Amino acid sequence: MSLDSHRREYRSGELRRAQLEADPLIQFRGWLELALELDLKDATAMALATASPEAVPSVRIVLLKSCDAEGFSFFTDYRSQKGHDLAANPVASALFHWRELDRQVRLTGTVVKVPAATSREYFESRPYTSRLAASASDQSSPISDRAALEAALEQAGRQYPMEQVPVPDQWGGYLLRPEAFEFWQGREGRLHDRFRYTRISSGWRIERLQP
Ligand SMILES: Cc1cc2nc3c(=O)[nH]c(=O)nc-3n(C[C@H](O)[C@H](O)[C@H](O)COP(=O)(O)O)c2cc1C
Repeated sequence: MSLDSHRREYRSGELRRAQLEADPLIQFRGWLELALELDLKDATAMALATASPEAVPSVRIVLLKSCDAEGFSFFTDYRSQKGHDLAANPVASALFHWRELDRQVRLTGTVVKVPAATSREYFESRPYTSRLAASASDQSSPISDRAALEAALEQAGRQYPMEQVPVPDQWGGYLLRPEAFEFWQGREGRLHDRFRYTRISSGWRIERLQP
């Protein structure tokens, strides 16, 4: 299968050293806010890469739920594949891609669980159906068929009919604390703009990278 006819030029904009915020969190928020203002679909979606104890990588999409000086949070099932990976290797890399803006941002850092109270607060803010589904599913474990999954959901619905779904023990959030960010702006002729921020004792070092 040849896919070369899908080539396109990246002409949405440029990124100059003089435009960059000294703090990559502010730079990131500016880019995310624009993606949200433009109502880009899944603007908060990030590909999250983790590594198994044997250093085998895996990647999946999760939704960013907050980002501040503490870190970038997302929520999941701690028993999932990513949960096992993060228990063994508490480091991750996350990638946002806003294709309509020809932009990507990569961050890499250490990962910790958020406090249980934070997980509970977020869980309780989710719709009833999402809470039930989280309660009925043992994420990333095999199941015989769809019918078994639906039966588990019905059982959870009978157990918690009145919106009162307790936070499942193994469900919660993680916080990715970035040690490095990279901002990528696609440019014409593949001469893209790339800037890497690396955490140093006095703040952040910024370097332009070759495309
Ligand atoms: C747009 C999108 C958003 C998703 N958001 C989440 C999320 O916030 N948390 C989550 O656990 N899985 C989310 N998923 C599902 C994950 O990609 C993945 O299938 C699941 O977490 C199991 O991954 P694992 O087996 O690698 O742990 C999302 C998938 C998509 C496509």
